[in-house]
Amino acid sequence: MKRIFVTWPLPEPTQARLASACELVMNVEEELLTRAELLRGAAGAFGLLTTLRDRVDAAVLDATGVRVVANWAVGYDNIDIAAARARKVWVTNTPGVLTETTADLAFGLIFAVARRIAEGDRLVRRAEFRGWHPGLLLGREVHGRTLGIVGLGRIGRAVARRAAGFGMRVIYHGGRPDDVHCQPRSLQDLLAESDFVSLHVPLTTETRNLIGPAEINAMKRGAFLINTARGDVVDQEALVEALERGHLGGAGLDVFPGTPERPDPRLFTLENVVLTPHVGSATRETRLLMAERAADNLIAALSGKAPPDLVWR
Ligand code: DGY
Repeated sequence: MKRIFVTWPLPEPTQARLASACELVMNVEEELLTRAELLRGAAGAFGLLTTLRDRVDAAVLDATGVRVVANWAVGYDNIDIAAARARKVWVTNTPGVLTETTADLAFGLIFAVARRIAEGDRLVRRAEFRGWHPGLLLGREVHGRTLGIVGLGRIGRAVARRAAGFGMRVIYHGGRPDDVHCQPRSLQDLLAESDFVSLHVPLTTETRNLIGPAEINAMKRGAFLINTARGDVVDQEALVEALERGHLGGAGLDVFPGTPERPDPRLFTLENVVLTPHVGSATRETRLLMAERAADNLIAALSGKAPPDLVWR
């Protein structure tokens, strides 16, 4: 039987399915593997099931000889696709199943920053709520405002559908619309017109630092930036600086650049920033669907068929 090495514990049903199709070797600890552990575990395996924190580069592919890498995520910027392609190693992701869930979180962040939900929660917990008054925690309207979506792919379109339900005007840059009424804009025009800018692009060499100092300055004064895509799409230094000087109204960030578990500590002192720990797709239902999708891809590859979610052809 061919061996599959899994870098993070899978949900029970997925484990059972995979175990019936291959020799399954799985890291059972909820701990990121070191590179040495990854190399040791995957050596000689047919396939690898990774999370987005496992770096799979040419050296890993060469040292292990794996023929397929199934990422338990829709994003795959942790994998060197050019190296995989050059070695004819299949790489798969989990598109579709996390679209609505991630769009829900993006919208949650829009409301959290505009209506100051996290700030209000902190105030109540500190026992500082002294009763309703007309000026208490005044936020900004969401309905009727303009939402600029950068990257109108699956998730961007799901955000656009929600925005339409909230009576927002939706403009977009990059990607393509479906049934929801959205108007295309250059990035500059989108930034200048939007009350909320929500990022939904994958991380590539083109999108790294897509939102830098010039782009942040081009945003409307008082606008909000929402990032549920990848931290490295935004220049964090420029963002913090714009928040500190009051150019932006706030930010809702689910992802952070560099070492994502250590966001810039200056963000912690800004009341108008809502920070979540990369939980865009984090519901029980969706994580299971993602794991199942990764397993579907591996099971296809194990039987010699092209997996359904190949990221290169
Ligand atoms: C992904 O799948 O790429 C998300 O960032 C995590 O679900």
